[in-house]
Amino acid sequence: MSPLPQLALAPMEGVMDAKARDLLTQQPGWDFAVTEFVRVTQERLPAKVYHRLCPELRQNARTASGVPVHLQLLGSDPECLAINAQVAVRCGAQVVDLNFGCPAKIVNRHGGGARLLRAPDQVFMAAEAVVQALAHKVDAQGAPIRVTAKMRLGDETTDLALANAQALEAAGVAQLVVHARTRLQGYRPPAHWEWIGKVADAVRLPVLANGDLWTLADYQRCVAVSGVKDAMFGRSAMADPWLAAEIKASLSGEPRPPTQLRDVLALMVSSLLFDEHTADKVKVMRTKQWLLLLTYRWGEAARAVFDQCKRLQNTAQIVQCIQLVLKSD
Ligand SMILES: Cc1cc2nc3c(=O)[nH]c(=O)nc-3n(C[C@H](O)[C@H](O)[C@H](O)COP(=O)(O)O)c2cc1C
Repeated sequence: MSPLPQLALAPMEGVMDAKARDLLTQQPGWDFAVTEFVRVTQERLPAKVYHRLCPELRQNARTASGVPVHLQLLGSDPECLAINAQVAVRCGAQVVDLNFGCPAKIVNRHGGGARLLRAPDQVFMAAEAVVQALAHKVDAQGAPIRVTAKMRLGDETTDLALANAQALEAAGVAQLVVHARTRLQGYRPPAHWEWIGKVADAVRLPVLANGDLWTLADYQRCVAVSGVKDAMFGRSAMADPWLAAEIKASLSGEPRPPTQLRDVLALMVSSLLFDEHTADKVKVMRTKQWLLLLTYRWGEAARAVFDQCKRLQNTAQIVQCIQLVLKSD
């Protein structure tokens, strides 16, 4: 039997924070996670920034369940990226990931994120500076520090997708995640999985597929279209925390029953009840955001729950509301 694929949790600013990574990696099947981006502009950021965004750095860059966490940097200035990558490694980062896909206007105005994909030579310089800055650095176990990258297919068009991937390979990155859309395509379906295959054919790097892999069937279609088995899941992992387990179980020939919306709601309730450290206001905001994400995967059924919860003011009310939904189901 062929080895199981690498399945990873995607970086998602404002969503996939340390709490979410902790909760999701308590479910089986996830091989690594990536932090929300740390935006670097013109300065050496203090260590506390890295520890705040990635508290796992204090525990061998792993979640409580032992899943490695990669630290993502977002920027365009090679020297600044390099200096900050060194700070991140001193703080305990073992893998530094570079973001070449962020569509946010503020980031792109400064030439970072997806905007860099207009110029493969700049992509190369940014990545190479970080690779060089971390060359010969090792983690606490003596393993070399790796630099990885995540890219979209381009800024406005896919014309430079292969050139950018090859620039990243030439710069020495160890692995590449391809979100199969351009910046202009935002998050609009469909994701263009055929391009993941084209990128994988153009480089020798390990490539992970990303974008709209909501279900086992989506994953299987993406593998059929792209030939790429390793994959990264963002909104879909929040919508189905057991998706990695389902994919791996199916590949092992022992399929597990597909997740139901009620499983996710039950997990949500228990995470709310057991989290005593987060301010209630924050928990309410994050839970509503999570409920909204569920609508992409679970449609009307999730929308109905979101509608019932959207005006509630505290977690006790939200928990009660979801528990009623679970009882009536
Ligand atoms: C709210 C949100 C925040 C995101 N933040 C980041 C980020 O910090 N770094 C990054 O590389 N990608 C970020 N992304 C993109 C995701 O990692 C992923 O590429 C995208 O959502 C497509 O995958 P999905 O269909 O599985 O969600 C973000 C996406 C969303 C929806």
